[in-house]
Amino acid sequence: MKRVFSGVQPTGNIHIGNYLGALKQFVELQEDHDCIYCIVDMHSITMPQDPKELKQHILDVAALYLSIGIDPKRSIVFVQSDVPGHAELSWILTCNAYTGELSRMTQFKQKSKDKESAPAGLFCYPVLMAADILLYDTDVVPVGNDQKQHIELTRDLAVRMNGKYGNMFVVPDGRFLKSGARVMALDDPTSKMSKSAPNAFSRISLLDTPEKIKKSIMKATTDSEGEVRFDIENKPGVSNLLNIYSAFSGRDVEDIAAQYAGSGYGAFKKDLVEITVDAVTPIQQKYEEIRQSQELLDILKDGAERAGAISEKTVKRVKDMIGFGAC
Ligand code: TYM
Repeated sequence: MKRVFSGVQPTGNIHIGNYLGALKQFVELQEDHDCIYCIVDMHSITMPQDPKELKQHILDVAALYLSIGIDPKRSIVFVQSDVPGHAELSWILTCNAYTGELSRMTQFKQKSKDKESAPAGLFCYPVLMAADILLYDTDVVPVGNDQKQHIELTRDLAVRMNGKYGNMFVVPDGRFLKSGARVMALDDPTSKMSKSAPNAFSRISLLDTPEKIKKSIMKATTDSEGEVRFDIENKPGVSNLLNIYSAFSGRDVEDIAAQYAGSGYGAFKKDLVEITVDAVTPIQQKYEEIRQSQELLDILKDGAERAGAISEKTVKRVKDMIGFGAC
């Protein structure tokens, strides 16, 4: 079976962009892949985090993983900082990555914009992500479109290391969905939906109430044309809503647009509210059951042990190949 690895940062407000771009794939892939899903707390401290909140957000994401249908019997679920191999491999890869390629990463450029100086961790963030992936001999990485450049860097690093040292790493492929890969902000369809945007109505969080979901969708930016049509360039707001509708329903955007021909945006938005609420309600019910349970902690402990055993082998192999250590 092919190996799958992916991760989500525990920074709160996990939204439908995260779900439709990445998390939904995590569940589907369990059927016929050997899956490892991580809560990447080490990535989250590239930006300031409150320690108490961080701890809670780690458990929030873990509970959400299980609530959307990740089965800990089939997949490994664990927290990145519980497995030391991530930091170890990250350093080795850092010494083989170039400042030129890292400074071309668009996420770094965006996050460090207008700052005289940025944390070095923010700069090296994609190398840690490459370490996460390469540590498990991963074949497939399900992610949203915003991670494309990081996956390319991971592949470049794997190929570079293989060229230098022999057969060290599996070269992984990214996996991107057609309709959920880039969910845009509801108040500004030219920027992606994000956990940290100040306007809470710009996103729909997986734990939002039906009222909040309704308000966010009914307020969502569209245009004055009144025609439900998929046209990203000229109608980015409506196209984004069509994409969300399509990703939740599994229907084609053209088919959905045809259903609302001539009926304006009201009915379309109303139905999208219903589809979204129906999708998140069972997730929220499961989340309530599991979030405070001891079972959640047991699953993470077991996951760290299983991930640790796999990663130790890779770290040993890599250290041997580069000539590290005395014993
Ligand atoms: P993060 O935590 O920002 O996001 C988690 C996943 O959600 C996807 N995503 C989106 N998809 C569609 N539309 C959006 N608006 C949207 N916003 C976010 C992301 O692409 C991601 O798949 N660097 C990663 C975490 C990471 C990782 C890894 C992923 C660390 N190590 C190894 C895969 C493999 C990140 O910050 O994701």
